[in-house]
Amino acid sequence: MPERGVLTGLVVLVTGAASGIGRATALAAGLAGASVMTCDISESGEASAEQIRQQGSRAEFAVCDVAQEQPVKNLIDSTIEHFGHLDVLINNAGIGGGGRRLHELEVEIWDRTIAVNLRGQFLCSKFALPHLIASGRGRIVNIASTYGIVGAPSSPDYCASKGGVVNLTRQLAVDYGADGIRVNAICPGYVDTDMGGVRARLAPLEAAAALARKEAHAALQPLGRQAQPEEIAEVAIFLASDRSSFMSGSIVTVDGGCTVTFNHGD
Ligand SMILES: NC(=O)c1ccc[n+]([C@@H]2O[C@H](COP(=O)([O-])OP(=O)(O)OC[C@H]3O[C@@H](n4cnc5c(N)ncnc54)[C@H](O)[C@@H]3O)[C@@H](O)[C@H]2O)c1
Repeated sequence: MPERGVLTGLVVLVTGAASGIGRATALAAGLAGASVMTCDISESGEASAEQIRQQGSRAEFAVCDVAQEQPVKNLIDSTIEHFGHLDVLINNAGIGGGGRRLHELEVEIWDRTIAVNLRGQFLCSKFALPHLIASGRGRIVNIASTYGIVGAPSSPDYCASKGGVVNLTRQLAVDYGADGIRVNAICPGYVDTDMGGVRARLAPLEAAAALARKEAHAALQPLGRQAQPEEIAEVAIFLASDRSSFMSGSIVTVDGGCTVTFNHGD
């Protein structure tokens, strides 16, 4: 549960807020006192905005595919129309990728994974940055992945997209520090979300297979379980707040220790 008030007065935009980490982060931003703009490719994202309003904070929702230029422009315009300014961008929307080795991966799937996970963060940052500069206290929090800092089996498109997010984060920190903008990324390990359960394979996994995958993912993390989305949201709120005032260009793993060991299997 984020500390109440740490985002008071700030306008926060969370992409992919209909479910999982994005939903938890949008709700946490509202609890922390922010006005929250939410978007998702799915109309079900409206429910997150409604829940934030019920918690007592301002919130709006827009349908937006972050991979497309004009809808992202419209999203940022709509944020400014509703709230007057924009202080924090949380680039969360993402998809899990094709789940095949590279020579078996369809070109269309590669293109879509890169478009949503990397181009989407580029587009949202591009159109948000003039407003973040104007804010004088702009922050960007990019949701990357441990798959962006290590290689993982059968995930070439996903690993490449998240690796791109990791170094784009560092690059933006260099270019925009003088504007007072801090840019950081979170690399979650395995999280208990729709994506974390099935890693968004194109064909949904059978329930038994999905459970087996979850258990396998939990076993890879020294803490022995998947994260809850709220545990990622907590760090996103920290990075969005003044509590992290000297952090920029940081790549923060929130992975139960997954990437500091290799699995010995005993
Ligand atoms: N779950 C995990 O184990 C895990 C691990 C590391 C990183 N991540 C990252 O965390 C982020 C959130 O994932 P999650 O686990 O909460 O998954 P999720 O599937 O629960 O949530 C992703 C949300 O993004 C939305 N979305 C997908 N494509 C979109 C698009 N083109 N435009 C706008 N919205 C779109 C979906 O509708 C969904 O609401 C992603 O960037 C993901 O890569 C997840």
